[in-house]
Amino acid sequence: MTRHTTTPFAGQKPGTSGLRKKTAVFMQPNYLENFVQATFDAIGGVADKVLVLGGDGRYFGAQAAGIILKMAAANGAARVIVGQGAWLSTPAASHLIRIRGAAGGIILSASHNPGGPDEDFGVKYNIGNGGPAPETVTEAIFAATQTITEYRKLDVPDPDLTVLGETVLGAMVVEVVDPVAAYADLMETLFDFKALRGLFHEGFRVRIDSMNAITGPYATEIFERRLGAAPGSVVHATPLPDFGGMHPDPNPTWAHELMAEMMGPDAPDFGAASDGDGDRNMVLGRGVYVSPSDSLAVLAANAHLCPGYAAGLKGVARSMPTSMAVDRVAADLGIDCYETPTGWKFFGNLLDAGRVSLCGEESFGTGSDHVREKDGLWAVLMWLNIIAVRGQGVAEIMADHWERFGRTYYSRHDYEALPVDIAELMLNQFRAAMPTMPGQVVEGLTVAAVDEFAYADPVDGSASSGQGLRVLFEDGARVVLRLSGTGTEGATLRVYLERYEPGPDGLTLDPQAALAPVIRATEVLVGIEGYTGREEPDVIT
Ligand code: G6P
Ligand code: ZN
Repeated sequence: MTRHTTTPFAGQKPGTSGLRKKTAVFMQPNYLENFVQATFDAIGGVADKVLVLGGDGRYFGAQAAGIILKMAAANGAARVIVGQGAWLSTPAASHLIRIRGAAGGIILSASHNPGGPDEDFGVKYNIGNGGPAPETVTEAIFAATQTITEYRKLDVPDPDLTVLGETVLGAMVVEVVDPVAAYADLMETLFDFKALRGLFHEGFRVRIDSMNAITGPYATEIFERRLGAAPGSVVHATPLPDFGGMHPDPNPTWAHELMAEMMGPDAPDFGAASDGDGDRNMVLGRGVYVSPSDSLAVLAANAHLCPGYAAGLKGVARSMPTSMAVDRVAADLGIDCYETPTGWKFFGNLLDAGRVSLCGEESFGTGSDHVREKDGLWAVLMWLNIIAVRGQGVAEIMADHWERFGRTYYSRHDYEALPVDIAELMLNQFRAAMPTMPGQVVEGLTVAAVDEFAYADPVDGSASSGQGLRVLFEDGARVVLRLSGTGTEGATLRVYLERYEPGPDGLTLDPQAALAPVIRATEVLVGIEGYTGREEPDVIT
């Protein structure tokens, strides 16, 4: 029996990045099966197609991979390329889809959300260019979940994913591959590994925190084996089903062990952390935290120092709430800078059309046209390549950058697990008051413009509305408000704050102090404390 009758589950709507739910929700009978069959149906079936499959090692991942393989076989797929142990980082999966010419891939991850039986699981479909499915596809998947009546799955034992090589499942080939090799080889083509080996040979010290998630094996292979970083440079290097209780989100709050080390007396020269599935990164120098928006700007300004980008950048893109620091670099380089809604999928068309070669988001994502996902370890290697060529540390590079371009002070304040109705009421009231705001002087700042961001994709013309509420002040300061599309509990309000300081004075302030007037003005305009009762954000990045 390969055909199984089923009935729809409510709420199988992919968010910013795939479908994310509590693990127990995914483990209900038929829940995963329904979503996977709906995905197959929405993409016109998988008969005779090649797919890539893997995930970040979290709880239920290997079991889910077994189910998906049996479903792919019953749906007539020709071949599924799967990472050994069902492991693949998100950028490595993107790369495999591209080099193997696969029709698409399924990534089993809830990214930076915690994992385990009581935490989160997720399933994301990527298309043939290696990138996240665009909204047309995710909407078709959601529509299919609402009308599903049956799914197909072979009634056979799970294939063994621990042994490399090919086996047969029904009429489908299961090809188990080393999850790291092809990705590490790709990195060697983009960066000067000889210069990096020299850096480590001279005693440069790094701490790469993989947070017990998927980048451990990748980072160990690349930094310790191929580049000669001291053994132990990669910490929390073994992917664990519950990430050892860590919350694998590389920001100052959740990567606090790394923060403490880098701000401490015996800090190494460079520190970095990545998230559950390896697409995010946080970069630190000795005593210095680099905000993701600044990291994007520095990478754009210095990309030409790396072999893979020596010819210069075609253009850059950032998500709308990401700071405008990179815009100044693009203007200086004379290249285009695109502003997209939050979500890596919006960069896909720009990358495919050759309009941009570097993209980034404030949410700790940076990447380029080498794959169609953001890429945490790639960003770390790019930083190290720049450090090796310039012969400067992170602090000096940042100081030079701000002196040259001015500094965009930036911070994001998150209010997590708010009651959904309260969060929506608050934003609706704000939206209603928007027309009265221009011209108002709040906490010394004059409101210049207020709007709700909408995007028309310059390549295919597709439109996305309701992508964030923005207040622009007369001195160029800005605040953006939006609700997270990746949370699984209540609503998370994100408040993105920025203010530009041209210099030469005032370039070394604490960002929270530099942003204090913008923070106060936001409270007046939005009334976060009044609506939510929260005096402080849960996370500050
Ligand atoms: C995922 C996406 C990113 C996006 C981020 C923020 O990581 O891959 O592209 O920026 O989510 O999402 P959120 O909706 O939670 O702010
Ligand atoms: Zn991620």
